[in-house]
Formats: sequence, structure tokens, C-alpha cells
Amino acid sequence: MRTKIVAGNWKMNKTFEEANGLTSEVLGMVNDEVQGNVKVVLCVPFPYLIPTRNLLGNHPRISVGAQNCSEHASGAFTGEVSAPMLKSMNIPYVILGHSERRQYFGEGGALLAKKVDIALANGLTPIYCCGELLEVRERNEHEALVQKQVEESLFHLSAETLQKVVIAYEPVWAIGTGKTASAQQAQDMHAIIRKHIASKYGQAVAESISILYGGSVNAANAKELFACADVDGGLVGGASLKSREFTDIAKAVNS
Ligand code: PGA
Repeated sequence: MRTKIVAGNWKMNKTFEEANGLTSEVLGMVNDEVQGNVKVVLCVPFPYLIPTRNLLGNHPRISVGAQNCSEHASGAFTGEVSAPMLKSMNIPYVILGHSERRQYFGEGGALLAKKVDIALANGLTPIYCCGELLEVRERNEHEALVQKQVEESLFHLSAETLQKVVIAYEPVWAIGTGKTASAQQAQDMHAIIRKHIASKYGQAVAESISILYGGSVNAANAKELFACADVDGGLVGGASLKSREFTDIAKAVNS
């Protein structure tokens, strides 16, 4: 069975004190309420990684992730954080290729392939994001674009290595807009991504990869989205900043 994951992407939000409070609340609620086959990941700003990891301890269900890493291992890259640094801090997950990184920081396929490589080489699990702008969907080019995004940053990997990657499909028009993809739109694209992986790596490999949906996931729509056969959880932005709502989203995986 594929691992179900609900990952919170805090983006650049919360003071340190607020962050610790949110982590403690999520920890308590998840301990009390979340059961079954779901992993919870808190992708927090870099300075909060170690404190968050320490608050969570060696938790069997909840872990911590970064929101980005450099394509370089070390050196004169002021302001950057590397995958070996994350490894040395026992951080298991890293989001790569988020649409905000693509849009505001000019990240593209070839660069992201390097980031995926260095993350994997350091034992991190990349949560690799893909997804189309509204205008691309309106031109009916969304399927081809997402296939290309998956291909250009992941298809150089061996089958064994690819299976260590988590994919997140996040239509850009649904991120932070309150406009969620319908369950059918999500399912259709997830099935296309899986089929595309199967065309290169075979069905068994494709079936083993967790594909998360992201874009205005909330407690009200999570259940329907997560009930789709090819949706293996969510990457949650705004709603991950509220402990009650985020926990309810994690609970929706098995309900
Ligand atoms: P959102 O963000 O849930 O606020 O739409 C999702 C994301 O950017 O990962």
C-alpha cells in the first residue's frame, strides 16, 4: 500500500514562538486523533527545523521537512542551505520545485533535477512539486506541461531512486486562492502522472509512488480529494497554519 502523507507547507509564516505553539498543538491533536496509514510532515522555515524536530522527538507519525535546498553541496552561496546540512540535522523531507520557487526564484526543470539528485544523495525524501498556471489549463496544455515537469526533473533517476520521491501535483491557480481543483480534476491529473511514470518505469514502480494534491486543501474538501484512487494525501499551505484544521485534514485521509 502506498504511504499516505499530509504535509504542511508553512511557507514564510509564523514567528518562532508561534511556530513552537503550532507544532505543540499539532503534536497533541495528532497523537490523540490521527490513526491509520498516514504520515504527517511539517515543512517549516529553515531556522525552525531543529526546534521543531526536537519538539517532535522521534515521533512515529510526524516528521519535519525543509521547503527548499541548494543544488550545491557547500561553498560560497550566501543565504543558501544545502542538502548535506539538512542530512546532518536529521531532516527527512524537503519540498522541491514549489510553484513559488519556480515563479519568484526562477527555478526550472534542469536546476530542479540537480536539487532532486543532491537531496536523494543525502538520504532526504524530496516532495517534488509540479502543476500548471491557469492560462495553461485554459489552453488545454496542462497535461503535457505536468508530464514535462515530471519528466525533466525526475526521469533521469533509476527506478529504485525514483521510488524514494514523493510527487505533489499543485495547480498554480488553486494555490492560496481558495479555488480547489475538483476531486475529478485532481484524480485525472494524478492518473496521468502515474501513467506517465508507468510508461517509462513500469506499472509496479508507478503504483508505489505517493502523489499528493495541493492547492487550497482544507478540512471541508480534504475527504473528497483524498478519496480519489490516485490521490495519496495533500500538500497543505494556508490550512496548515491552523492546528485544528490541519489535524482534521490529516484525519480525512482515513475517514
Ligand atoms: P494552499 O498552498 O494550501 O494555501 O493553497 C498549497 C501550497 O502552496 O503548497
